[in-house]
Amino acid sequence: MDQQRFLLNMGLLLLALACYASQAKAADAITNPAQGKKLYETHCFSCHDSKIHTRPETIIHSFSALKKRVQFCQNNSQLNWSAAQINDVVAHLNDTFYKFKTK
Ligand code: HEC
Repeated sequence: MDQQRFLLNMGLLLLALACYASQAKAADAITNPAQGKKLYETHCFSCHDSKIHTRPETIIHSFSALKKRVQFCQNNSQLNWSAAQINDVVAHLNDTFYKFKTK
């Protein structure tokens, strides 16, 4: 009986560790601008194309403003993107057009 309980506890502990490890991995995931480009070109061209990012009267003046805008536009379009998808699109737009320092 005690041995069974011990094994059960060890099993639960391993499961908890596995969950923790996979979460940590997701949070550390590096951004993927190529994926962001695909997402952007598939979902964001209905109102504007990428010319809007090089217009002289741009409303984006910082990396955090860019992130907020992508969040806002994807929210308005009801895309339900994950944080990782938003980061990928921000990385694509920043690498290609805005070139803000990210830190
Ligand atoms: C429903 C229409 C619509 C969709 C869809 C849309 N946008 Fe926009 N977006 C706008 C409008 C309108 C502006 C200009 C706002 C202004 O000038 O105040 C804009 C501006 C922007 C800007 C700022 C451009 C600049 O430099 O001034 C970014 C960045 C942006 N959108 C990203 C996105 C992304 C990423 C997506 C896809 C998730 C997207 N947009 C989809 C309407 C849209």
